[in-house]
This record gives sequence, structure tokens and C-alpha cells, in this order.
Amino acid sequence: MTQSLTIRRPDDWHLHLRDGAMLAGVLPETARHFARAIVMPNLVPPVVTGADAAAYRARIMAGLPEGMTFQPLMTLYLTEETDPADVAAAHASGLVNAVKLYPAGATTNSASGVTDFDKVRGVLEKMAEIGLPLCIHGEVTTHDVDIFDREQVFLDTVLHPLRDRIPGLKVTLEHVTTSHGIDYVAEASGDIAGTITTHHLMINRNHILVGGIKPHYYCLPVAKRREHMQALRRAATSGNPRFFLGTDSAPHNDENKETACGCAGCFTATNTMACLAHVFEEQGALDKLEGFTSLHGPARYGLAPNDDTITLVKDAQPVAYPAKIVTGDGPVTVFDPGHPLFWRVT
Ligand code: DOR
Ligand code: ZN
Repeated sequence: MTQSLTIRRPDDWHLHLRDGAMLAGVLPETARHFARAIVMPNLVPPVVTGADAAAYRARIMAGLPEGMTFQPLMTLYLTEETDPADVAAAHASGLVNAVKLYPAGATTNSASGVTDFDKVRGVLEKMAEIGLPLCIHGEVTTHDVDIFDREQVFLDTVLHPLRDRIPGLKVTLEHVTTSHGIDYVAEASGDIAGTITTHHLMINRNHILVGGIKPHYYCLPVAKRREHMQALRRAATSGNPRFFLGTDSAPHNDENKETACGCAGCFTATNTMACLAHVFEEQGALDKLEGFTSLHGPARYGLAPNDDTITLVKDAQPVAYPAKIVTGDGPVTVFDPGHPLFWRVT
């Protein structure tokens, strides 16, 4: 019997669209199912000022194929030189929905990120005053901290003291990968939310390393032990409005992934809804999918949920999706959950 599920159209609260030929190649993959997305600013050079964001937004809209609709929600890349007045003006004009904090060196194109948090205090205080959320890549970059512990150490040594100092700051802890991160977001007082990616709900560190190294499962924060994946699944399907979808779909071409020093990122834009329906069904929580993909995020960002809907149906035959998408910047491998998927968006 065919099962079907109709939900409000989803949004993606953490997305990498890149620029140029890659942007043109990946944008339709998101716009096909998603109405809006928080677009990451880690271009080279990064999107730092309101003027940068306006220009990037125009390039995104110019890359949208005829007949597709999509609303990019722009972010600014926080640097130690960021001007609080520029941030406030970009927010007041409606151009910018969040500011992104990368600890310097944490991940792809994060060299301009923050080393000394005292230097960004003025911007963060201004953001607290105007209610502009800070999206955080929550990993320390200290060399002596093990890569699997970097999220947990960040919570204790950076996030907790930062939120103590600026209690009014709205924080989104992005791509939570550990049970510690889940517990922190669920239990902390004040204004905090957490996004969870598609791939971290489906892979753990064994997927990356057992039976040969799988570069297409390498992302940052790196996938952790299976019990952390299970904690993420429980949070995503709990109905707790503090948790919602941010895919962190992060395209790199195969040449840059399948190499001795491969880039971090899983490209999930194409099959995210099929993957999520699979996970939520496995958890016995299909009734919680709409909250996670379509309701909690807008509520958090002070926006209305989308008016229109999408319908997912479960077929007896596996859903077909491409193994790679073709872009002008080379092929990009689509996330492979390692088993067939049966839900598709009609
Ligand atoms: O895996 C990742 N890829 N994590 C990030 O934080 C950045 C992203 C990218 O831009 O490729
Ligand atoms: Zn990201």
C-alpha cells in the first residue's frame, strides 16, 4: 500500500551554495524541495559586509533557473574587524538573517574567523540588542584537542562562558554531532537552538573508516560514535522546537574530495527529504518530520512557515536519484546513505 505524507514546504537552516559554476549547479538541487535556506558566507573571500551579502544574494537569484522559486536568507561572516554598525544596518534593511561564527581554522575557508573573542564582543553585544541570531560552528581548533572531542570542549570552554557574558545573544549551535551538544541545547537556559544535518542522522564514524576510507562521508564536525548518532536521532524526532534541520549540504567536486587531503563536506541537497523520511519512519516519528523541517526553524527566526506543501510518498521500489550531479566546476557526488530509500517527493 502506498503511504503518503503531506507537510508544509521545508526550509534549510544551514546551506553552502558556493559561487560561480558550482552555485549554478547546486542551487536547483535545493530549490526543488526547499523554499528558503540560511546561506553560509564562507566564500573566498568571505561575505563579511552588508554590501558583500547584497552582491552575493543577487548572484544567487541570477543563478536560479526559470520557473523555480527560492529565497536565500543571507548571513555575514564574523571577523575580528566586523563593524557592529554595518551588521545592524544589514539586519535593519532585512538583508541579513544571521551572523556566522567560525573559530579561525575550524573548517573550509575559515581562515578569517575568530581567534580572540574579546575582539568581537562589540558586535555580539549589538546583535543581542537587535535580536540577530549568531550561528556557531562549535568546535575548538586547538591542536592538542582530539578531533572527536572538539565539539564537547567548545561547549565547555567557549560557548558556555560566551553566553554567560552576553546572556541576551540568540545562539544557534549548528550541526550538532554529540550527545553533549544535544544535552546542552536541550537544557541550557536562555535563547538557544541547534541544527542537525541529514548525514549526521545516518552515518557514524564507522561509515568513514571501516572497510576503506570513504572521503564522501568526511565532513566537519566529523561524524562521531554510533551512540551520538542515536542521540541526534532522538533529538530530531522529539518534537522539541529547539532542534531543526540545517543540512550543511556542502558541495566539493570529486577531484577535491577524492584526493590525499580531501575537503570536508557531504552533499545532501538532492536527497535530503528522502533520507529524512527514512530516518523519521525508522524512529516511528513521521508525525514529527514537519516540525523538524518546516515549523521549528521559521519560529526560531521569527518568520512564518511556508504556505504551500510538499507530499512524500513511499513506494515499493527504491527511489531513483543521481549518484552525482554535473556542475560547471566538475561532478559532485550525492550523499549515499548506504541503503535504498523508498520515500520520494512527488
Ligand atoms: O563539512 C563541512 N564543510 N563543514 C563545514 O563546516 C564547512 C563545509 C564547507 O564549507 O565545505
Ligand atoms: Zn557548514
